[in-house]
Amino acid sequence: MVLRAGMLWLAGNPRAEGLVRRLPVTQPLVNRFVAGERVEDALSAATAIHERGLHYTLDLLGENAADASRATEAGQAYIDLLDRIQAAGLPGNISIKLTMLGLDISDDLAWQNLEAIVRKASELGMFVRVDTEGSPYTERTIALFRRIHDLYPDAVGIVLQSYLYRTDSDLDEMITRRARVRIVKGAYKEPETVAYPHKSDVDAAFRRHIERLLEDGNYPAIATHDEAIIGMAKGYALRLGIDRSRFEFQMLYGIRRDRQEALAAEGYNVRVYVPYGTSWYPYFMRRLAERPANLLFILRQLVRG
Ligand code: FDA
Repeated sequence: MVLRAGMLWLAGNPRAEGLVRRLPVTQPLVNRFVAGERVEDALSAATAIHERGLHYTLDLLGENAADASRATEAGQAYIDLLDRIQAAGLPGNISIKLTMLGLDISDDLAWQNLEAIVRKASELGMFVRVDTEGSPYTERTIALFRRIHDLYPDAVGIVLQSYLYRTDSDLDEMITRRARVRIVKGAYKEPETVAYPHKSDVDAAFRRHIERLLEDGNYPAIATHDEAIIGMAKGYALRLGIDRSRFEFQMLYGIRRDRQEALAAEGYNVRVYVPYGTSWYPYFMRRLAERPANLLFILRQLVRG
Protein backbone atom coordinates (compact mmCIF):
# COMPACT_ATOMS: atom_id res chain seq x y z
CA MET A 1 0.00 0.00 0.00
CA VAL A 2 2.82 2.39 0.96
CA LEU A 3 4.80 1.34 -2.15
CA ARG A 4 1.76 1.92 -4.34
CA ALA A 5 1.20 5.38 -2.86
CA GLY A 6 4.88 6.27 -3.32
CA MET A 7 4.87 5.10 -6.90
CA LEU A 8 1.71 7.03 -7.71
CA TRP A 9 3.30 10.12 -6.16
CA LEU A 10 6.38 9.63 -8.39
CA ALA A 11 4.04 9.27 -11.41
CA GLY A 12 3.23 12.97 -11.03
CA ASN A 13 6.80 14.11 -10.39
CA PRO A 14 8.75 15.53 -13.39
CA ARG A 15 12.15 15.26 -11.64
CA ALA A 16 11.62 11.56 -10.99
CA GLU A 17 10.65 11.16 -14.64
CA GLY A 18 14.14 12.17 -15.82
CA LEU A 19 15.70 9.67 -13.42
CA VAL A 20 13.41 6.76 -14.28
CA ARG A 21 13.80 7.38 -18.04
CA ARG A 22 17.60 7.05 -17.70
CA LEU A 23 17.60 3.70 -15.84
CA PRO A 24 18.80 0.83 -18.07
CA VAL A 25 16.02 -1.42 -16.82
CA THR A 26 13.25 1.01 -17.76
CA GLN A 27 13.05 0.61 -21.55
CA PRO A 28 12.55 -3.18 -21.60
CA LEU A 29 9.81 -2.80 -18.99
CA VAL A 30 8.19 0.05 -20.92
CA ASN A 31 8.20 -2.12 -24.06
CA ARG A 32 6.15 -4.64 -22.18
CA PHE A 33 3.32 -2.18 -21.48
CA VAL A 34 3.53 0.24 -24.44
CA ALA A 35 3.19 -0.75 -28.12
CA GLY A 36 5.81 1.74 -29.37
CA GLU A 37 6.27 5.43 -30.06
CA ARG A 38 4.71 5.78 -33.53
CA VAL A 39 1.19 5.33 -34.86
CA GLU A 40 2.59 2.55 -37.11
CA ASP A 41 3.65 0.64 -33.97
CA ALA A 42 0.15 0.96 -32.56
CA LEU A 43 -1.46 -0.22 -35.80
CA SER A 44 0.83 -3.22 -36.08
CA ALA A 45 0.01 -4.14 -32.46
CA ALA A 46 -3.68 -3.73 -33.36
CA THR A 47 -3.24 -6.05 -36.36
CA ALA A 48 -1.61 -8.70 -34.18
CA ILE A 49 -4.43 -8.39 -31.62
CA HIS A 50 -7.01 -8.72 -34.37
CA GLU A 51 -5.29 -11.86 -35.65
CA ARG A 52 -5.51 -13.36 -32.15
CA GLY A 53 -9.31 -12.97 -32.31
CA LEU A 54 -9.42 -9.98 -29.94
CA HIS A 55 -10.62 -6.38 -30.24
CA TYR A 56 -8.58 -3.28 -29.44
CA THR A 57 -8.75 0.32 -28.32
CA LEU A 58 -5.84 2.68 -29.06
CA ASP A 59 -4.60 5.24 -26.55
CA LEU A 60 -2.22 7.96 -27.71
CA LEU A 61 -0.28 8.54 -24.49
CA GLY A 62 -0.26 12.01 -22.96
CA GLU A 63 -1.94 13.78 -20.05
CA ASN A 64 -2.16 17.30 -18.66
CA ALA A 65 -1.43 19.37 -21.79
CA ALA A 66 0.34 22.49 -20.52
CA ASP A 67 -0.88 24.91 -23.19
CA ALA A 68 -3.68 25.28 -25.71
CA SER A 69 -1.56 24.51 -28.76
CA ARG A 70 -0.45 21.16 -27.29
CA ALA A 71 -4.07 20.28 -26.50
CA THR A 72 -5.20 21.16 -30.03
CA GLU A 73 -2.31 19.16 -31.52
CA ALA A 74 -3.41 16.17 -29.44
CA GLY A 75 -6.99 16.59 -30.67
CA GLN A 76 -5.77 16.67 -34.27
CA ALA A 77 -3.54 13.63 -33.68
CA TYR A 78 -6.59 11.67 -32.55
CA ILE A 79 -8.58 12.75 -35.62
CA ASP A 80 -5.67 11.60 -37.82
CA LEU A 81 -5.58 8.34 -35.88
CA LEU A 82 -9.26 7.70 -36.67
CA ASP A 83 -8.44 8.16 -40.37
CA ARG A 84 -5.49 5.78 -40.07
CA ILE A 85 -7.63 3.11 -38.39
CA GLN A 86 -10.24 3.51 -41.11
CA ALA A 87 -7.60 3.25 -43.86
CA ALA A 88 -6.10 0.15 -42.24
CA GLY A 89 -9.52 -1.52 -42.42
CA LEU A 90 -9.22 -2.82 -38.87
CA PRO A 91 -12.32 -1.87 -36.88
CA GLY A 92 -11.36 -0.62 -33.42
CA ASN A 93 -11.95 2.04 -30.78
CA ILE A 94 -9.91 4.88 -29.36
CA SER A 95 -9.52 5.94 -25.71
CA ILE A 96 -8.87 9.57 -24.83
CA LYS A 97 -8.03 11.61 -21.73
CA LEU A 98 -9.59 15.04 -21.31
CA THR A 99 -6.51 16.55 -19.63
CA MET A 100 -4.60 15.80 -22.82
CA LEU A 101 -7.26 17.74 -24.71
CA GLY A 102 -6.94 20.82 -22.51
CA LEU A 103 -8.99 20.28 -19.34
CA ASP A 104 -6.31 21.99 -17.21
CA ILE A 105 -6.63 25.09 -19.37
CA SER A 106 -10.39 25.39 -19.79
CA ASP A 107 -13.52 23.31 -20.15
CA ASP A 108 -14.22 25.08 -23.46
CA LEU A 109 -10.91 23.99 -24.98
CA ALA A 110 -11.35 20.38 -23.86
CA TRP A 111 -14.91 20.48 -25.19
CA GLN A 112 -13.89 21.76 -28.63
CA ASN A 113 -11.29 19.01 -29.01
CA LEU A 114 -13.60 16.34 -27.63
CA GLU A 115 -16.47 17.36 -29.89
CA ALA A 116 -14.26 17.35 -33.00
CA ILE A 117 -12.95 13.85 -32.21
CA VAL A 118 -16.34 12.33 -31.40
CA ARG A 119 -17.99 14.00 -34.42
CA LYS A 120 -15.33 12.44 -36.66
CA ALA A 121 -15.71 9.04 -34.98
CA SER A 122 -19.47 9.22 -35.40
CA GLU A 123 -19.08 10.02 -39.13
CA LEU A 124 -16.82 6.97 -39.51
CA GLY A 125 -19.02 4.69 -37.38
CA MET A 126 -16.30 4.39 -34.72
CA PHE A 127 -16.38 4.60 -30.92
CA VAL A 128 -14.53 6.86 -28.47
CA ARG A 129 -14.03 5.98 -24.80
CA VAL A 130 -13.43 8.85 -22.39
CA ASP A 131 -10.94 7.56 -19.78
CA THR A 132 -11.27 8.88 -16.24
CA GLU A 133 -8.34 10.44 -14.41
CA GLY A 134 -7.73 11.69 -10.85
CA SER A 135 -10.71 12.81 -8.74
CA PRO A 136 -10.07 16.57 -9.18
CA TYR A 137 -11.26 16.03 -12.78
CA THR A 138 -14.16 13.63 -12.20
CA GLU A 139 -17.00 16.14 -11.96
CA ARG A 140 -15.91 18.11 -15.04
CA THR A 141 -15.20 14.94 -17.03
CA ILE A 142 -18.70 13.66 -16.32
CA ALA A 143 -20.24 17.06 -17.14
CA LEU A 144 -18.49 17.13 -20.54
CA PHE A 145 -19.42 13.51 -21.10
CA ARG A 146 -23.14 14.29 -20.57
CA ARG A 147 -22.94 17.01 -23.24
CA ILE A 148 -21.14 14.86 -25.79
CA HIS A 149 -23.30 11.82 -25.10
CA ASP A 150 -26.44 13.89 -25.69
CA LEU A 151 -25.11 14.70 -29.19
CA TYR A 152 -23.54 11.36 -30.18
CA PRO A 153 -25.02 8.62 -27.94
CA ASP A 154 -23.69 5.73 -30.02
CA ALA A 155 -20.18 7.07 -30.61
CA VAL A 156 -18.96 7.73 -27.07
CA GLY A 157 -18.75 6.00 -23.69
CA ILE A 158 -17.26 6.73 -20.26
CA VAL A 159 -15.09 5.02 -17.63
CA LEU A 160 -16.24 4.85 -14.00
CA GLN A 161 -13.89 3.98 -11.13
CA SER A 162 -15.26 1.67 -8.42
CA TYR A 163 -12.92 3.06 -5.71
CA LEU A 164 -14.80 6.39 -5.71
CA TYR A 165 -17.71 6.72 -3.27
CA ARG A 166 -19.64 8.74 -5.87
CA THR A 167 -19.65 5.93 -8.45
CA ASP A 168 -22.87 4.23 -7.24
CA SER A 169 -24.81 7.34 -8.17
CA ASP A 170 -22.83 8.04 -11.39
CA LEU A 171 -23.55 4.48 -12.43
CA ASP A 172 -27.30 4.96 -11.91
CA GLU A 173 -27.17 8.04 -14.10
CA MET A 174 -25.19 6.33 -16.88
CA ILE A 175 -27.53 3.34 -16.84
CA THR A 176 -30.55 5.65 -17.10
CA ARG A 177 -29.06 7.48 -20.07
CA ARG A 178 -28.05 4.15 -21.72
CA ALA A 179 -24.40 5.26 -21.85
CA ARG A 180 -21.78 2.60 -22.43
CA VAL A 181 -19.63 2.26 -19.28
CA ARG A 182 -16.18 0.74 -18.81
CA ILE A 183 -15.94 -0.16 -15.14
CA VAL A 184 -12.47 -0.24 -13.49
CA LYS A 185 -11.14 -0.37 -9.92
CA GLY A 186 -9.32 2.97 -10.34
CA ALA A 187 -5.62 3.72 -10.78
CA TYR A 188 -4.88 7.09 -9.13
CA LYS A 189 -3.73 8.17 -5.67
CA GLU A 190 -6.90 9.33 -3.95
CA PRO A 191 -7.65 10.65 -0.44
CA GLU A 192 -9.97 8.77 1.91
CA THR A 193 -12.44 11.61 1.62
CA VAL A 194 -13.33 10.53 -1.93
CA ALA A 195 -12.24 6.88 -2.34
CA TYR A 196 -12.25 3.64 -0.37
CA PRO A 197 -8.81 3.29 1.25
CA HIS A 198 -9.00 -0.53 1.63
CA LYS A 199 -8.64 -2.95 -1.26
CA SER A 200 -11.38 -5.21 0.13
CA ASP A 201 -13.88 -2.33 -0.05
CA VAL A 202 -12.76 -1.44 -3.59
CA ASP A 203 -13.22 -5.06 -4.66
CA ALA A 204 -16.69 -5.20 -3.05
CA ALA A 205 -17.74 -2.01 -4.84
CA PHE A 206 -16.30 -3.32 -8.12
CA ARG A 207 -18.38 -6.52 -7.80
CA ARG A 208 -21.51 -4.52 -6.99
CA HIS A 209 -20.98 -2.25 -10.01
CA ILE A 210 -20.31 -5.17 -12.36
CA GLU A 211 -23.52 -6.90 -11.26
CA ARG A 212 -25.52 -3.73 -11.76
CA LEU A 213 -24.03 -3.19 -15.25
CA LEU A 214 -24.54 -6.80 -16.31
CA GLU A 215 -28.19 -6.54 -15.31
CA ASP A 216 -29.07 -3.12 -16.69
CA GLY A 217 -26.10 -1.63 -18.56
CA ASN A 218 -25.67 -0.99 -22.27
CA TYR A 219 -22.90 -3.30 -23.49
CA PRO A 220 -20.69 -2.75 -20.41
CA ALA A 221 -16.92 -3.29 -20.47
CA ILE A 222 -15.47 -5.08 -17.44
CA ALA A 223 -11.84 -3.95 -17.35
CA THR A 224 -9.72 -6.05 -15.01
CA HIS A 225 -6.96 -8.66 -14.78
CA ASP A 226 -8.29 -9.95 -11.46
CA GLU A 227 -9.06 -13.65 -11.80
CA ALA A 228 -11.58 -13.75 -8.95
CA ILE A 229 -13.51 -10.84 -10.47
CA ILE A 230 -13.45 -12.35 -13.97
CA GLY A 231 -14.82 -15.60 -12.53
CA MET A 232 -17.50 -13.75 -10.60
CA ALA A 233 -18.62 -11.77 -13.69
CA LYS A 234 -18.81 -14.91 -15.83
CA GLY A 235 -20.78 -16.76 -13.14
CA TYR A 236 -23.20 -13.88 -12.59
CA ALA A 237 -23.91 -13.53 -16.33
CA LEU A 238 -24.44 -17.27 -16.62
CA ARG A 239 -26.86 -17.40 -13.66
CA LEU A 240 -28.91 -14.52 -15.04
CA GLY A 241 -28.90 -15.88 -18.59
CA ILE A 242 -27.05 -12.82 -19.92
CA ASP A 243 -25.58 -13.68 -23.30
CA ARG A 244 -21.80 -13.31 -23.81
CA SER A 245 -22.43 -10.92 -26.68
CA ARG A 246 -23.98 -8.36 -24.30
CA PHE A 247 -20.76 -7.30 -22.53
CA GLU A 248 -17.01 -7.42 -22.99
CA PHE A 249 -13.88 -7.94 -20.93
CA GLN A 250 -11.01 -5.50 -21.34
CA MET A 251 -7.34 -5.85 -20.37
CA LEU A 252 -4.22 -3.77 -20.82
CA TYR A 253 -1.62 -4.42 -23.50
CA GLY A 254 1.12 -6.69 -22.15
CA ILE A 255 -0.81 -7.97 -19.14
CA ARG A 256 -2.20 -11.52 -18.94
CA ARG A 257 -2.00 -12.19 -22.66
CA ASP A 258 -2.86 -15.87 -22.24
CA ARG A 259 -5.95 -15.03 -20.23
CA GLN A 260 -7.10 -12.61 -22.95
CA GLU A 261 -6.94 -15.40 -25.53
CA ALA A 262 -8.51 -18.01 -23.27
CA LEU A 263 -11.53 -15.77 -22.64
CA ALA A 264 -11.92 -15.15 -26.38
CA ALA A 265 -11.71 -18.89 -27.03
CA GLU A 266 -14.58 -19.37 -24.56
CA GLY A 267 -16.66 -17.00 -26.71
CA TYR A 268 -16.33 -13.77 -24.72
CA ASN A 269 -15.60 -10.45 -26.40
CA VAL A 270 -12.19 -9.26 -25.23
CA ARG A 271 -10.69 -5.85 -25.97
CA VAL A 272 -7.04 -4.95 -25.41
CA TYR A 273 -6.16 -1.38 -24.44
CA VAL A 274 -3.10 -0.43 -26.50
CA PRO A 275 -1.12 2.65 -25.41
CA TYR A 276 1.49 4.16 -27.70
CA GLY A 277 3.50 7.38 -27.98
CA THR A 278 6.45 9.07 -26.32
CA SER A 279 4.67 10.35 -23.18
CA TRP A 280 4.59 6.99 -21.45
CA TYR A 281 5.91 7.98 -18.02
CA PRO A 282 2.72 8.45 -15.90
CA TYR A 283 0.97 5.49 -17.56
CA PHE A 284 4.01 3.30 -16.97
CA MET A 285 4.32 4.33 -13.32
CA ARG A 286 0.66 3.51 -12.67
CA ARG A 287 1.24 0.03 -14.11
CA LEU A 288 4.26 -0.44 -11.86
CA ALA A 289 2.26 0.68 -8.85
CA GLU A 290 -0.18 -2.18 -9.55
CA ARG A 291 2.53 -4.82 -9.57
CA PRO A 292 4.90 -5.05 -6.57
CA ALA A 293 7.34 -7.33 -8.43
CA ASN A 294 8.00 -4.76 -11.19
CA LEU A 295 8.09 -2.01 -8.65
CA LEU A 296 10.79 -3.59 -6.50
CA PHE A 297 12.92 -4.17 -9.57
CA ILE A 298 12.88 -0.45 -10.39
CA LEU A 299 13.42 0.61 -6.77
CA ARG A 300 16.54 -1.58 -6.48
CA GLN A 301 17.98 0.07 -9.59
CA LEU A 302 17.19 3.52 -8.17
CA VAL A 303 18.98 2.74 -4.90
CA ARG A 304 22.04 1.44 -6.76
CA GLY A 305 22.06 4.68 -8.79
P1 FDA B 1 -5.61 -5.82 -9.38
O1 FDA B 1 -4.78 -4.59 -9.41
O2 FDA B 1 -6.15 -6.30 -8.08
O3 FDA B 1 -4.79 -6.96 -10.12
C1 FDA B 1 -5.24 -8.30 -10.20
C2 FDA B 1 -4.12 -9.16 -10.79
O4 FDA B 1 -3.90 -8.77 -12.15
C3 FDA B 1 -2.77 -8.99 -10.12
O5 FDA B 1 -2.64 -9.83 -9.01
C4 FDA B 1 -1.82 -9.36 -11.25
O6 FDA B 1 -1.77 -10.75 -11.39
C5 FDA B 1 -2.52 -8.80 -12.46
N1 FDA B 1 -2.06 -7.41 -12.74
C6 FDA B 1 -2.74 -6.27 -12.47
N2 FDA B 1 -2.03 -5.18 -12.86
C7 FDA B 1 -0.88 -5.66 -13.37
C8 FDA B 1 0.28 -5.03 -13.94
N3 FDA B 1 0.37 -3.70 -14.04
N4 FDA B 1 1.29 -5.82 -14.38
C9 FDA B 1 1.19 -7.17 -14.29
N5 FDA B 1 0.13 -7.82 -13.75
C10 FDA B 1 -0.90 -7.09 -13.30
N6 FDA B 1 -8.06 3.24 -14.38
C11 FDA B 1 -8.53 4.50 -14.25
O7 FDA B 1 -8.43 5.09 -13.17
N7 FDA B 1 -9.07 5.14 -15.34
C12 FDA B 1 -9.22 4.53 -16.54
O8 FDA B 1 -9.73 5.15 -17.49
C13 FDA B 1 -8.75 3.19 -16.68
N8 FDA B 1 -8.85 2.51 -17.86
C14 FDA B 1 -8.51 1.18 -17.91
C15 FDA B 1 -8.73 0.44 -19.07
C16 FDA B 1 -8.48 -0.93 -19.10
C17 FDA B 1 -8.75 -1.71 -20.34
C18 FDA B 1 -7.98 -1.59 -17.93
C19 FDA B 1 -7.74 -3.06 -17.90
C20 FDA B 1 -7.73 -0.85 -16.79
C21 FDA B 1 -7.97 0.52 -16.76
N9 FDA B 1 -7.70 1.27 -15.63
C22 FDA B 1 -8.16 2.57 -15.54
C23 FDA B 1 -6.86 0.70 -14.55
C24 FDA B 1 -7.66 0.10 -13.40
O9 FDA B 1 -8.29 1.11 -12.66
C25 FDA B 1 -6.75 -0.72 -12.47
O10 FDA B 1 -5.80 0.13 -11.91
C26 FDA B 1 -6.03 -1.86 -13.15
O11 FDA B 1 -6.85 -2.52 -14.07
C27 FDA B 1 -5.53 -2.89 -12.12
O12 FDA B 1 -6.62 -3.42 -11.43
P2 FDA B 1 -7.18 -4.93 -11.67
O13 FDA B 1 -8.67 -4.83 -11.76
O14 FDA B 1 -6.51 -5.55 -12.82
O15 FDA B 1 -6.91 -5.68 -10.31
